[in-house]
Amino acid sequence: VEQVPEHYAGMYRHAAADTYAEVRRAIYGEDLGQNSWLTREELDRFAAALRLGPAVRLLDVACGSGGPAMHLVRTTGCVVTGVDASDDAITAAGELAGAGGKARFLIADAAARLPFDDGAFDAIVCIDAINHLASRPAVLADWARLLRPGGRLSYTDALVVTGPVSSDEVAVRASIGYQVVTPPGANERLLEAAGLHVLEADDLTDSFARIAARRRDVRAGHADTLRQIEGDAAFDGRQQFFDLTARLAEERRLSRFAYLAERPA
Ligand SMILES: C[S@@+](CC[C@H](N)C(=O)[O-])C[C@H]1O[C@@H](n2cnc3c(N)ncnc32)[C@H](O)[C@@H]1O
Repeated sequence: VEQVPEHYAGMYRHAAADTYAEVRRAIYGEDLGQNSWLTREELDRFAAALRLGPAVRLLDVACGSGGPAMHLVRTTGCVVTGVDASDDAITAAGELAGAGGKARFLIADAAARLPFDDGAFDAIVCIDAINHLASRPAVLADWARLLRPGGRLSYTDALVVTGPVSSDEVAVRASIGYQVVTPPGANERLLEAAGLHVLEADDLTDSFARIAARRRDVRAGHADTLRQIEGDAAFDGRQQFFDLTARLAEERRLSRFAYLAERPA
């Protein structure tokens, strides 16, 4: 798979796992293994909205190293398939899943048609990753195909532009790799165009602003170790990215939404 954004390089590798786990505990209060703006409270709400439960077949698109997916398996009894473009992420996810049989993780390009049958899933989740995928109409059409009739989809978009953003600010945001930004209302229109019925659009920007500032501040407190792992240039770039994201979110120039949609029965 081409083009895993450079921003994630290193974060999924073994050697650094303990440091990143400690940093996550300090940021979120509880380590879910997330590499995103996701809080436990949000994930538990998505689980309820998706009506996860024993044997419900869930697809986690761009699942990272599998922590959020395994949390859903543990708390709801669902069976999960996770895909991500990063081989380091999928290796880590496979180790986390072990041999329990309730989770499988595969390398796949989520910008392309995914290698599963029509109607193969009861629910789909995609956390803070859709912005890396080029053609949103095609991606949403593929998710609609993969859902069984009556199945539900929940995804977050952390790049909804809700105020003026300068070219310098766009450059810092874009420094982490390919990203698509959207105007308010675009996701709702694209979901409907893909044949999905929008049930909710939830503004999560308060928590987004808080987590971005925590990511900046907690990482700054672990600067010596993180500089050794990431290198000075990548560490400084990521700090600048978290700082700008916190400011844009606090000022409501950039918003993060969660969308819940259903494939009509
Ligand atoms: C912000 S991280 C979120 C990971 C995970 N959902 C979580 O909440 O921890 C974005 C993820 O998107 C993945 N990604 C980026 N482009 C992708 C693509 N074309 N196909 C599949 N995964 C991709 C990255 O490897 C990364 O794991």
